[in-house]
Amino acid sequence: MSITGSKILETNFCGFKLANPFLVASGPSSRDLNMIKRAFESGWAGVVTKTISLTPTRDVSPRLHILNYGHSTINIELISSVSPRVWIKWIKELKKNYPRRMLIASIMGSDRAVTWKKLGQLMAEAGADALELNISCPHGLPEKGMGSLVGQDPDRAAEVTDWVKRAVKIPVIVKLTPNVTDIGLIARACARAGADAISGINTVKSLGGIDLKRLEPLPSVDGYSTFGGYGGAGVKPIALRCLAEIGQAVPLPLSGMGGILTWQDAAEFILIGCGTVQVCSGVMLFGYQLINDLANGLEQYLLRRKVKSVKKIVGLVKSKIVKFSQLNAKQKKYAVVNTVRCLTECRLCVMTCQDAGFQAITSVRGQTNISKKKCDGCGLCLAICPADAITLV
Ligand SMILES: Cc1cc2nc3c(=O)[nH]c(=O)nc-3n(C[C@H](O)[C@H](O)[C@H](O)COP(=O)(O)O)c2cc1C
Repeated sequence: MSITGSKILETNFCGFKLANPFLVASGPSSRDLNMIKRAFESGWAGVVTKTISLTPTRDVSPRLHILNYGHSTINIELISSVSPRVWIKWIKELKKNYPRRMLIASIMGSDRAVTWKKLGQLMAEAGADALELNISCPHGLPEKGMGSLVGQDPDRAAEVTDWVKRAVKIPVIVKLTPNVTDIGLIARACARAGADAISGINTVKSLGGIDLKRLEPLPSVDGYSTFGGYGGAGVKPIALRCLAEIGQAVPLPLSGMGGILTWQDAAEFILIGCGTVQVCSGVMLFGYQLINDLANGLEQYLLRRKVKSVKKIVGLVKSKIVKFSQLNAKQKKYAVVNTVRCLTECRLCVMTCQDAGFQAITSVRGQTNISKKKCDGCGLCLAICPADAITLV
């Protein structure tokens, strides 16, 4: 049964029936047994474990920084500090108690095939429903020849996919990094090597900021920092572009993430072709209970549009993402203002049109006027208008 009690959100991912398309992404909120249990109890249809490796890591402190008014994260956290032996016990217990929730084991081996194969086999034997190959973490691990260093090279990405595919029978999802020039190229290499699905994006390699009082980079570890991973609201447009490019490159199921904080964000990923969506920063910032807003919001949206199943909207907008040269450049448009909706005194459109547009908008005695002759149809005024009072005709 779905969290909202209806079947409208039910879907499938890699042969697994899900109550809804929402998964907790690999990260702090899938760190251990009890946290994953709480995620399931809250209504998440699946969880991707914190990435498991053969040699547990040791983290620095602090390793997290929050920015963009509480809506984005930068982290320099490594992968799981818990051994595969313990993870095997946890996975067995979780699958026994929550057989209908999808449990995806995220794994990361080294440059030796045996490490990837062993991890994959151990997690499959423990009962994981699928594997997610982390070849995409942008900090710490690349210095050891792992993480995004693998995911930035199509040959190495394909090699790792092939190693794991040959070792296990459960579905293999490959998680890609956005820190590449052509993500479609990497997706195609993984698909050729047998990947069952693609997920992404992992975090965007970034520098968190500078503490202007202490003159230290952030997050500051005794005065020093390193390039970290950017997630949350700030990365959503990058993530949407990456997932759209992957969808154009390969015909595989997609699990999209990167900046999903609201049901509207999730719906956008679904509309460009993601059958499931994952949330990491969103859970860090708003807790597991975020699933209520995501599931209820998406369900209401589908009901309003008289759509019977979320599966029906997967990829609906995909074909509308085209090359620039395919856009209609012939038809000239200009802005018109709805004087009833216009707030008159805010003058944001006047300011922006004067200083970044074509000086087409003026305001005289509280009346906003747009010169059809001067307007070039750039759309800046309607983008900035807080009252939705301007349209292009
Ligand atoms: C603190 C933190 C730890 C993370 N750890 C992992 C990890 O162990 N394995 C992994 O594949 N991705 C990891 N990620 C990346 C997320 O799974 C996700 O790909 C990324 O944050 C983008 O999604 P978001 O915008 O919802 O955060 C981590 C992200 C954060 C913020």
